[in-house]
Amino acid sequence: MDRSKSGTGDGRGTRATAHELARYEALFAARTRSMKSSAMREMMALTERDDVISLAGGLPDTSTFPPELFAKLMSHVAADSTARALQYGPTEGMAVTVDCIVEVMAAEGTLVDRSEVIVTTGGQQVIDLVCKALIDPGDVIVAEAPTYPGAVPTFGAYQAQVEQIETDADGMPIDELERVLDRLAAQGRRPKFIYTVPNFQNPGGVTMSLPRRRRLVEVAHERELLVLEDNPYGLLRYEGDPLPTLYSLDAETVGQGGGADLVIYLGTFSKILAPGVRLGWAVAPRPVLEKLNLGKQGADLCSSPVTQLFVAAFFAERDSAGEPRWRAYLEQLKALYSRRRDVMIEALAEHFGEDARWTHPHGGLFIWATLDERLDTTDLLALARESEGVAFVPGRAAYVDGRSGSSSMRLNFAGVPDADIREGVRRIGKVAGEQLSLFGTLSGSPPRARAAAARPQPPAPAEHGLADVVALPRRDADGAARRRRDR
Ligand SMILES: Cc1ncc(COP(=O)(O)O)c(C=O)c1O
Repeated sequence: MDRSKSGTGDGRGTRATAHELARYEALFAARTRSMKSSAMREMMALTERDDVISLAGGLPDTSTFPPELFAKLMSHVAADSTARALQYGPTEGMAVTVDCIVEVMAAEGTLVDRSEVIVTTGGQQVIDLVCKALIDPGDVIVAEAPTYPGAVPTFGAYQAQVEQIETDADGMPIDELERVLDRLAAQGRRPKFIYTVPNFQNPGGVTMSLPRRRRLVEVAHERELLVLEDNPYGLLRYEGDPLPTLYSLDAETVGQGGGADLVIYLGTFSKILAPGVRLGWAVAPRPVLEKLNLGKQGADLCSSPVTQLFVAAFFAERDSAGEPRWRAYLEQLKALYSRRRDVMIEALAEHFGEDARWTHPHGGLFIWATLDERLDTTDLLALARESEGVAFVPGRAAYVDGRSGSSSMRLNFAGVPDADIREGVRRIGKVAGEQLSLFGTLSGSPPRARAAAARPQPPAPAEHGLADVVALPRRDADGAARRRRDR
């Protein structure tokens, strides 16, 4: 096979051509038909490019971590534990790392039994392992709409049928969830789990209110349903009072000082320390934990002992006042990100048209902006990237049907400096404004409803309602021009 024809030259990011794929087609498992590249992964490539301002990634700002501290901690790991760091570790994780996890969860008011914790290779692996343990093809998962774009391809790979429930300012409306559950029950179906990001949701930026949290846990108990609580951002709160985790509310319901019965908790060091350590965790009822452990054995045996020991060394650090260093670092991140959030909100007010609206997250990394309904942000991304050198995540990536959310976008305010936030938002506003004037020129400003109806809809996903990921626009300028003419 002549690989040079489809490669990028450096051997990375190589895409198979249709001809190449055909040769292997008969060998692929059926599930690969519903496996799509995550929009997020495509976006990560852009963050490597100097000429693009990327507001797309889910990136924290790792440049804030002092290099001398990194060097000191790694030397400490080398001096004290070279042999352990370079050896395999237990699948459930090293005891010193589990200690850190217990400490992080206590900081969020959640007490956990260390025997119910498993250390994973990022929070992303928890989503994968939970699906591996619970999902047969066609099983139902209930998720928020929009939902975490990185979960969408995982749900797709396990051939789940995903029911999405539109969030409002208080997160997932639980009365709507109950209606969906009733409808499914009438069809003899019960979701395998309910997936939620209750704090400063990725991508929506919204937080589930306390009454809804309580009601969700009640509903889970009334109907014996598992909940996957994905909580990377709970400690990154910039305003308002912290809310209890679903896990702690469940444990309270169960009583007797034990853990939760029905909530599987997902945590990660990615946003409070660094995604490069690739360490997350799950806390789960023991029978579920055992299945996650079995799944992880098959996936990677164990998470990296090198980074587990690094995390443990970081958590052992104290500042001059004897306070844990990780808490001071977290405060530093919160001050930085909350300022950047405000910078982005100001820039949006300045550069986005009057039809646009956006969320005001009390924490986390993201703002969800919704533009004039005539704009399709997947198309807009192609233009923004090519003509203005700026990127964001198009809203469709957060919907399993790959169609909804077409006039929305996710913007990351945490990973780029203030000046880039302002400039990036200005550029997106410019491209959006140009597109809107083009609609006006071409069609004499049609009424909005008509314009939206006239827009060609993307094709339905190949499999009945299986999770899918938005296909990103092709990079050719002709295609972009053709799409504009098609309107
Ligand atoms: C909601 C949510 N879940 C899971 C993850 C995965 O995080 P990681 O694998 O880096 O721990 C992310 C990352 O952005 C996220 O936003």
